[in-house]
Amino acid sequence: MCGIMGYLGPKDAAPILVDGLRRLEYRGYDSAGIAVHDGTHLVVAKAEGKLDRLVGQLGSNPLAGSFGIGHTRWATHGPPSDRNAHPHADPAGDIAVVHNGIIENFTALKEDLVSRGASFTSETDTEVIAHLVAEEYDGDLLEAVRRAVRRAEGAYALVAMSQHEPGRIVAVRMISPLIVGVGDGEMFLASDIPAILHHTRSFAVIDNGEMVDLSPEGWHIETLDGERVDREVFEVDWDAEQAEKGGFAHFMLKEIFEQAAAATETLGGRVDEKGRVDLDGVDWPEGFVESLDRIWITACGTAYHAGLIAKEVFERLLRIPTETAYAHEMRYRDPIIAGTTMTIAVSQSGETADTLAAAGLAQERGSRLLALTNVVGSTLSREADDVLYTRAGPEISVASTKAYLTMLIGAYLLALAMGERRGAFDPVAHDEIVEALNHLPVKVEDALDRDGDVAAVAARFEGHDDVYFIGRGLDNAVAMEGSLKMKEISYIHSEAMPAGELKHGTLALVTEGTPVVVVLTQQDVYDKTVSAIQEVKARGGFVVAVAFDDDEEVGKHADEVLRIPRVPDLLSPVVAIVPMQLLAYHVAAARGHDIDQPRNLAKSVTVE
Ligand code: F6R
Repeated sequence: MCGIMGYLGPKDAAPILVDGLRRLEYRGYDSAGIAVHDGTHLVVAKAEGKLDRLVGQLGSNPLAGSFGIGHTRWATHGPPSDRNAHPHADPAGDIAVVHNGIIENFTALKEDLVSRGASFTSETDTEVIAHLVAEEYDGDLLEAVRRAVRRAEGAYALVAMSQHEPGRIVAVRMISPLIVGVGDGEMFLASDIPAILHHTRSFAVIDNGEMVDLSPEGWHIETLDGERVDREVFEVDWDAEQAEKGGFAHFMLKEIFEQAAAATETLGGRVDEKGRVDLDGVDWPEGFVESLDRIWITACGTAYHAGLIAKEVFERLLRIPTETAYAHEMRYRDPIIAGTTMTIAVSQSGETADTLAAAGLAQERGSRLLALTNVVGSTLSREADDVLYTRAGPEISVASTKAYLTMLIGAYLLALAMGERRGAFDPVAHDEIVEALNHLPVKVEDALDRDGDVAAVAARFEGHDDVYFIGRGLDNAVAMEGSLKMKEISYIHSEAMPAGELKHGTLALVTEGTPVVVVLTQQDVYDKTVSAIQEVKARGGFVVAVAFDDDEEVGKHADEVLRIPRVPDLLSPVVAIVPMQLLAYHVAAARGHDIDQPRNLAKSVTVE
């Protein structure tokens, strides 16, 4: 959690740091701050609240200096406040640090420092690091940080500078992500690539347990033990425009509308003209897929919902028992895992702490690990044995949309690739799925074209504080994602459940006008779901159905129908989620919410 930045070069550091922090705000946005070296001293500006408060402060009190560090915070230790905002300094103001993640032994470290006379101005664990670095400092920042980090346990990344070494910035990665951007005569540090994509396209990833030393002479990476590391610089070909709103009111809306293109990217080059699937980055050993007798899928939030769809798809197509587990549950269970198990960790960011831990546990127990992730070079992608990138492009909005849709397509591709190896398909069924998959981008585009219809239905949610989402099988899994989208950005209480479960309790909450969204795409259980609609209607509920264009029945039962283009039932989640994302968006927009940065949330949950 939190976003961190560093800049060293010929330009004024403050605007570059602020610009990077704006692009990192999705990682946290309850306070922000920067520190620059003005040639004599370290000078710090920080403010509770959104970045604009800091910008206002810098407008009246500009900080001059050509190297500095910055931070945008998502509180873990100590509530959001000016004094808990980063950067933090030691009492003498000699060392400034920004940090994300958690110092797990900070209480013991703080008690020790206090017992030796130290005083603290904040409640953060970060301030302890500033003290430790200052205590260890004897003229060499790199060595001081190295010794300090040896005393601090936890998962974090930190960036430090010293008043006594103008032009030097030292950073460490202890699990939390950190990259170096290499520009023309200038260098950057950031939590992720989009933060500095406007300045450079050349990057190096800092690995776990590594330090990076930036100075006017250049940069180098070394391990905590002081061994030099030769790290390749790679070029990123993302379009910087992709990281901007591109004319949409919110990143979320832009990302929803990018889904047809994203689907094309996910599929691109992975299915040949004969319908054979070739997944770059997936290199299963001979006989591995054939021997599989169990698949575990682990993930959190929206990625977990994608995992629920993947389970249904794998079980139906491959007949391999599959369990989808919340990563934060799985890591503390005693999962039954053997060499004939494959584990798939699903994560947009590839940095979710719980998902990394569950994936690591599966690997320890002998499972091969496949990462289904969006972020190239993420921790998950580097720890996994195989990686299938979703290729959704940068997702800025906290509420995940295109990442989810592309995860689903990734799951279908995996099912096809495994099915080919196991001889699981009859050729006709295989070809039908391949053909339908290839048509998905067009179908998604078609679903997006109906945004106006969704906006009209959204207006009917005004004044309601509770909404329910129901469906059966795949429709239930997609209803869960629709419900999560609704609650996280509209703040309307929303629950999802299998349609057959409603009558076992929740129906008590359905009264005159209660909105119930019913996903109705699975023909084998269609009539059963219609019965649930009747139960809702009999209590006066307001039913919004999500149904295929060719469904002539649904209009007799539902108050409103959000139509989606026809695809095979098995692939319906990819299309059915589109109107539900738009519904959540329009309901939230009508309420005037901060859609891209919903309260209390952050894009990447890198703490347990
Ligand atoms: C909801 C949302 C979250 C994430 C979850 C996992 O819109 O975005 O529920 O899906 O925090 O994040 P990743 O996929 O990065 O592991």
